Amino acid sequence: MNAALGGPVPELPVDPEESLALLASVALPHQQRGDHPRYFARVPGPSSFAAVLGEWMGTGFNTIAASWAGGSGPATIELVVIEWLRQLMRFPKGTEGVLASGGSSASLTAFSAARSTLGAGVVYLTDQTHSSLPRALRELGFTAKDVRVLESDDNYKMSIAHLERAIAEDKSGGRRPFMVTGTAGTTNAGTSDPLEEIADICAREKMWFHIDGAYGGPAALTEQGRGYLAGIDRADSLVLDPHKWLFQPYDVGCLLIRAGALERCFSMKPEYLKDVKAGAGEVDFRNRSLELTRRSRAPKLWMSMRTYGVNRIREAIQRGIQLAEFAEDYLRTHPDVWEVVTPAQIGVVCFALKNGNPEDHTLRAKKVSDSGYASVTSTVLKGQTVLRLCTINPLTTEDDIIGTINRLAGRVE
Ligand SMILES: Cc1ncc(COP(=O)(O)O)c(C=O)c1O
Repeated sequence: MNAALGGPVPELPVDPEESLALLASVALPHQQRGDHPRYFARVPGPSSFAAVLGEWMGTGFNTIAASWAGGSGPATIELVVIEWLRQLMRFPKGTEGVLASGGSSASLTAFSAARSTLGAGVVYLTDQTHSSLPRALRELGFTAKDVRVLESDDNYKMSIAHLERAIAEDKSGGRRPFMVTGTAGTTNAGTSDPLEEIADICAREKMWFHIDGAYGGPAALTEQGRGYLAGIDRADSLVLDPHKWLFQPYDVGCLLIRAGALERCFSMKPEYLKDVKAGAGEVDFRNRSLELTRRSRAPKLWMSMRTYGVNRIREAIQRGIQLAEFAEDYLRTHPDVWEVVTPAQIGVVCFALKNGNPEDHTLRAKKVSDSGYASVTSTVLKGQTVLRLCTINPLTTEDDIIGTINRLAGRVE
């Protein structure tokens, strides 16, 4: 690829048709097909056409969503989609938010704002928390002593007993419990932490409650998903990743957070921006995260929510939940071959060969992926390598799932 795409600095113009052809034939095909119906690896990215149109339009107009004066239109769309997401997640009126590049930067933004609000202290998370969260804490200067990684329970959820014990130990050791981060849909197994109980503890201890719903948060749009994620609306800050399960092209993450927290943390007033101050009801998004010049990520969400309607998006999410359940049921009809390690939970099922060598899982996933039929990856749960399907693409069929599982079993070449 480097030979085809690289070479010396192009001092003189190159035919753009040729460059476009190279992009289309060499560069762009070499990437994961995250929106293919048989892409079950990691977290798929089933993007939607209406969102792509919104994104193109925004880029074509070179939208800027930094200040009200610089772009009140883009800022308004961002406020609108944040308000729609607030209502859908049933967060209190007045909740604020900001769009970000993804879950990693949205959580980092939330942690900075939480610390500005409450002051630093100890953070509690689990061994199933996405690794971007401890990384964000590390980069914000939290030391290993400030971050308590609690062992998850047998269902890969935060253990309330472990959390209570750790908080009590820290308090008696003169340390200040500051924040619990819960997960609404872990990447590994789709499990959700006991959000209601964690919210009660945070309220009692006057701690910040952050929820990482980057993967699973949108499941709360469905009745079934809301059952799994009960308590999600009690967070002080919640991260969603519309480029995962809200069918957006990369990139767009979203942070919903208590009113005032972002601007308390991120406001800045350089001399040259003094005359582009927002008035009442107007928002300078540069004051809501570390980004000053920022493109508008809102048009794609706005466009797709209007074009499809949230009902249809809700049905598409429900379909993803059902597909994982279908996969689980199918695995259970072959108990001689497969063992279900974690049941289908909001779009993820993990499974293992009944009498297989765990290392074989990675090899089988690779073989099926290399064949071009489907993309599957393994993960590790409490030291055991298992196979995993993430089924959030609404275009996936039951036959796609059967065909993939049968190939993983070696039943079809
Ligand atoms: C649960 C969870 N949190 C956070 C992230 C990080 O999000 P992003 O890749 O958008 O930065 C991911 C990514 O897969 C995730 O699954």
